[in-house]
Order: sequence, then structure tokens, then C-alpha cells
Amino acid sequence: MLLVTGGAGFIGANFVLDWLADPAAEGIVNLDALTYAGNRETLASLDDDPRHVFVHGDIGDRALVDRLLAEHRPRAIVHFAAESHVDRSIHGPGTFIQTNVLGTFTLLEAARAHWSGLPPAERAAFRFHHVSTDEVYGSLGPGDPAFAETHAYEPNSPYSASKAASDHLVRAWHHTYGLPVLTTNCSNNYGPYHFPEKLIPLMIVNALAGKPLPVYGDGQQVRDWLYVKDHAAAIREVLARGRVGETYNVGGWNEKPNLEIVHTVCALLDELRPDPAGPYARLITYVADRPGHDRRYAIDARKLERELGWRPAETFETGIRKTVAWYLDHGDWVQRVQSGAYRDWVDRNYAGRSAA
Ligand code: NAD
Ligand code: DAU
Repeated sequence: MLLVTGGAGFIGANFVLDWLADPAAEGIVNLDALTYAGNRETLASLDDDPRHVFVHGDIGDRALVDRLLAEHRPRAIVHFAAESHVDRSIHGPGTFIQTNVLGTFTLLEAARAHWSGLPPAERAAFRFHHVSTDEVYGSLGPGDPAFAETHAYEPNSPYSASKAASDHLVRAWHHTYGLPVLTTNCSNNYGPYHFPEKLIPLMIVNALAGKPLPVYGDGQQVRDWLYVKDHAAAIREVLARGRVGETYNVGGWNEKPNLEIVHTVCALLDELRPDPAGPYARLITYVADRPGHDRRYAIDARKLERELGWRPAETFETGIRKTVAWYLDHGDWVQRVQSGAYRDWVDRNYAGRSAA
């Protein structure tokens, strides 16, 4: 059994679905608070699968986590649960500290208590896998080398600072208490079930609705993009064979400026769902920049390749085509996640950003 946290969110759900697609795979206890970003419907195909036990609850609830560990005796915890959106962290940092820092602390303490009481063989095999981000490293200049695992931590947003804090806690629980931890720091994911507050799904959803495509600042900020199923595969590799106490950077070798991403999405939509009103790129609108906006991220994923042989299977061209096609085929999912709470967020984030 694995205990997965945040498995109703974008990456966690893709991980759970991919894991359980193998009929021989162990079961998963999936602990998720179902915040605005968590969606039970994403996991509907597992409703009749006895290997999937969904628990609606908070990682900060120590009694609940203790009970789940005692009852299911998982051999590993894979920790995805977090507040994950940078813009939301700017509007309201409190929940990021609560979940990403205090929630991770509670989970580590529960894991430590559980692990300490295991018989020696189970103790040796136990893993706490912490899923983190490249944003902890801060921002790169145009000619700087990509982030290696040894890069200094220089987080610039409340989100990245809270993730950096959680990475430090995980590291300390290993060095001080011996908890067998693994940490992965990944670049920007994209793919199915991505909540439409993030760049790629927002652009698809807005374009299809004939709404403006809001590009922050000059649109020349660079991100490295990785198809979400490649991230899930990397986590499986690290969980199986990663060296305890190590961190591994995960990336797609695929740096692109935001504006290029938006044009690519528009071109695919022009091909797959042409708009009689004209090319979707006509909707691109420059808006006020994100405060403290990191200019460039790039990931050096050679350690993961060298030690564990992982490389992404998708190129950006294949991954983005699959992604756009998935959104065109899953209008119902998109419609259902765009609840009143989603519309309130869109008003809040974009109302103050008049077209530049
Ligand atoms: P997401 O926002 O889509 O999903 C987060 C999930 O965590 C949701 O299902 C939510 O309900 C759940 N959750 C939130 N607070 C919780 C709590 N207190 N207790 C239990 N569950 C809670 O996030 P995501 O994009 O899937 O990211 C997953 C993890 O991967 C995060 O830790 C994030 O920092 C990291 N990460 C994300 C990316 C990316 O591009 N999205 C890249 C690198 C790393
Ligand atoms: O790098 C990994 C990180 O990637 C993860 O840790 C985060 O959880 C994840 O949300 C993502 O963070 P970003 O801030 O890079 O992702 P986002 O999709 O919000 O934005 C991507 C880029 O697009 C960023 O430079 C901001 C820009 N952007 C975003 C939105 C929502 C726009 O120009 N317009 C927009 O409307």
C-alpha cells in the first residue's frame, strides 16, 4: 500500500491513475482535502477498484494521518498535497503556510512516529517521497546554467518560499531523525486534468470561450515544460530506486517563453477546432505582470538520467497536441470544475490587470 496525499489534484491524480493502470500494482490510500483544486470526478474510473481507498481529509489532521498509517501500514508516503498556484499565494499567502509548511510538518511527524515503530525490514524499506518544485531555486538570467540539485535556494513568491520551507523540513527530518526521505524538484507540468487557473489550460479554456488570453508583462518569461505522465514516471523511478536522502531534479529539456506557448496552443486550436471569427491568437491580450515574477526557470535533469535512467517520453510537440485534444474531448470536466469559486478567482486575479 502507498499513502498518497493530494491525489485528487492535477499531478497526484495523474500519478494515481497511472499507478493503478498496472493490474499488479499495490493499492493506494488517497488522502485529499478536496480544496478548489481537488476533484473527485477525476478519479471516477477507480470507483469500483478496491485498490483505491479515497479519504477526504487534511494532511494537517494528525489524528487522521496517525489512524491511516496504523490501519493501512503503507510502505511509502508520496506527498503531493499543497497549495500550488503562485498568483493565489500573492493574494492570500496564509493557506500556503498552513498546508505547505505546517501540513508537511504534521505529515513528517506522523511518518516519523509510524516509521520508528516498524519492525526492522519494514523500517528499512519505508520511504517518504516529497514532491516539490524548481521554483525553490529562484530565477535565472538568460545565459545562466540550468538549475542543478546543488543550486542555492532563492524562492521569490509566497508559494515558492512555502515549498522551500517544506523541502528544508524534509531534509532535516532525514538528517536529524534518519527518516528515509526522497525529494523531487520538478518544472512546469502540463497535461490532462490541469486546473484551468494555470497558463496552458487557462489559454485553452478562454480561447474556446472567445475570451481574452491574458499574457503577463511582455510574455518573455521562460519555463521548462514537462508532460505530467513523464513526471509521474519519474516519481515511480525515484520511489523505487532513488538514493535515500537525495534530491532529484525533474525536467523536460524544453525551455520556452510564455508567448510561444500561447501561440502554440492557438495554432493547435486553429487546426483542431477552427473559430469562424478568426485565428485564436487575435485574443492575446497583454496584462499587468505578476509581482516578483521569476524570469526564467531551467532544469538540469542529468542526475536522474545518470542514476536512474529516466528521460521524458514525450516531446513538447507530442505532449501539447495530446493536451489540447484532451481538453477538446473533456468539455464536461472543464465545465464542472468552473464552479462559482473558480469564477470568483478569475474576477479577483484579472480584474486588477487591465490590458497593457
Ligand atoms: P493541485 O493544486 O492541482 O492539487 C493539489 C491537491 O492537494 C488538491 O487535490 C487539493 O485538494 C489537495 N490539498 C490541498 N491542501 C490539502 C491539505 N491540507 N490536505 C490534503 N490535501 C490537500 O497541485 P498540482 O499541480 O497537482 O501539484 C502537486 C504537487 O506538485 C505540489 O506539491 C506542487 O508544489 C508540486 N509541483 C507542481 C508542479 C506543477 O507544474 N503543477 C510542478 C512541480 C511541482
Ligand atoms: O515551475 C513549477 C511550478 O509551475 C509549480 O511549482 C507550480 O505549482 C505551478 O503552478 C507552475 O507555476 P507557474 O507560476 O510557472 O505556472 P503558471 O501556469 O501559473 O504560469 C506559467 C507562466 O505563465 C508564468 O510565467 C506566469 C504566466 N501566466 C500565467 C497565467 C495564469 C500568464 O502570462 N498569464 C496567466 O494568466
